[in-house]
Amino acid sequence: MKEDKNKNITNSDTQTENTDITPQVASKDSKKSHYISRAEARRIAQENFEHVKRLEAYKKRKNVDESEYVTQMKDNKNVVEFDDLHTYFFTDGGTVKAVDGVSFNVPQGSVVGVVGESGCGKSVTSLSLMQLVQGPTGQIVSGEIRFKGEDYLKDEEGKKIPIYTDELDEQGNPVQLKNEWGVPQYKKGTYVYNIAKMPMDEMRRIRGSQIAMIFQEPMTSSNPVFTIGEQLDEVTMLHIEGASKEYAKARSIDMLKLVGIAMPESIYKRYPHELSGGMRQRVMIAMALICDPELIIADEPTTALDVTIQAQILDLLRDVKDKMNGSIMLITHDLGVIAEMADFVVVMYAGRIIEQGTATEIFDNPCHPYTIGLQKSKPAVNKKVDRLYSIPGQVPNPIDMPDFCYFKERCNKCINKCNGEYPPIVRLSPTHTVSCYLYNDIFEKTSAKEKNNG
Ligand SMILES: Nc1ncnc2c1ncn2[C@@H]1O[C@H](COP(=O)(O)OP(=O)(O)O)[C@@H](O)[C@H]1O
Ligand code: SF4
Ligand SMILES: [Mg+2]
Repeated sequence: MKEDKNKNITNSDTQTENTDITPQVASKDSKKSHYISRAEARRIAQENFEHVKRLEAYKKRKNVDESEYVTQMKDNKNVVEFDDLHTYFFTDGGTVKAVDGVSFNVPQGSVVGVVGESGCGKSVTSLSLMQLVQGPTGQIVSGEIRFKGEDYLKDEEGKKIPIYTDELDEQGNPVQLKNEWGVPQYKKGTYVYNIAKMPMDEMRRIRGSQIAMIFQEPMTSSNPVFTIGEQLDEVTMLHIEGASKEYAKARSIDMLKLVGIAMPESIYKRYPHELSGGMRQRVMIAMALICDPELIIADEPTTALDVTIQAQILDLLRDVKDKMNGSIMLITHDLGVIAEMADFVVVMYAGRIIEQGTATEIFDNPCHPYTIGLQKSKPAVNKKVDRLYSIPGQVPNPIDMPDFCYFKERCNKCINKCNGEYPPIVRLSPTHTVSCYLYNDIFEKTSAKEKNNG
């Protein structure tokens, strides 16, 4: 079996037996590099089975003490902190390291754009945050995803803490506050959860109410056999305890109005196939907003739409972000969309972050040859070109990543050092980092300075 030179990932998250997970790959000895013999396939399948069984059991564990997944933010201004996240797919062909050590933050009230070519791990990063990675093959293997949200406060015995009114009942006991549908109310407070360790049952409370997701293709992410109204109402009924049908309907119609849909009462009664692509995407945004989430993840929200509608949907997203005072994680392969919207930009390549910084840093001073290539391939109105630039080559095979810089085979700025191991992260400013040997001098100087100071 090939030794993975990057590292043997110890699955510290699962905290079960601390078994090493060595990514499974086909033997390099095979004459054809993508050929897997029957014996190898059997070995990979057997080892995958063990990993997947353990990781699935960990996700489905019951009666878990909150202390296992309640944590602290490193910086309280963030709503999400990804910290060295690894999410793998244990396929029969080998282990796909879809997300391989990703760390970045989503500050409160900001738009963070995640950009990169198709297959770079953008969607898997966001699905990890929702605990929606396609199991059993897809699993969060290690790392943390810290999310700051609101949840019920608990007393020492783990029970919810009631909110009392000033009144006393006939026996002289305080009367618990009830909402307008007669549901008793409990105190809520701010919590930080490590989503990578949260059991699935607990995650269901957060998903959809505190983190909402807008997918690329609204037709496939809405249910064709239910009306728009039924699908919107369901969100309220599911997440607002005791809500009446009338309240759910009024809220759905309000949200349809908020996303700029004319005649919302009529759209409420229609089926998804009766609406245009742009209208369906507006409905999806309305659905995401119903529970007033802290964070909206928009995964290629405009890719399936034509250009004029794209601009409208981006305007709408910007508008709703200000109204809800939340944050947006905007995933796209289109730097143009990022330029319109994002405060911070994260550039991903083959499952890793190769550069990140504020939008100004990434657009005015892109440093990684891949980011520069992406910029060059963006059409510009004031430039006449015969052919739009495209970065030569392809993303490497995710099952068998090289030991050197993943971009090397496509890079036109290679230097000698690039034949060495994967480049370290270099900090160019407090917010701007890049992973490329061209900036290694800065890295070496900084390390030396830190050593001298330390
Ligand atoms: N269900 C799956 N099974 C196996 N591999 C997957 C699966 N979903 C995604 N991948 C792989 O994970 C990598 C990242 O995919 P993804 O996050 O969807 O890319 P993108 O950046 O286009 O959103 C790709 O190499 C893809 O082939
Ligand atoms: S490390 Fe080398 S090969 Fe990789 S992007 Fe930088 S210059 Fe290119
Ligand atoms: Mg995607």
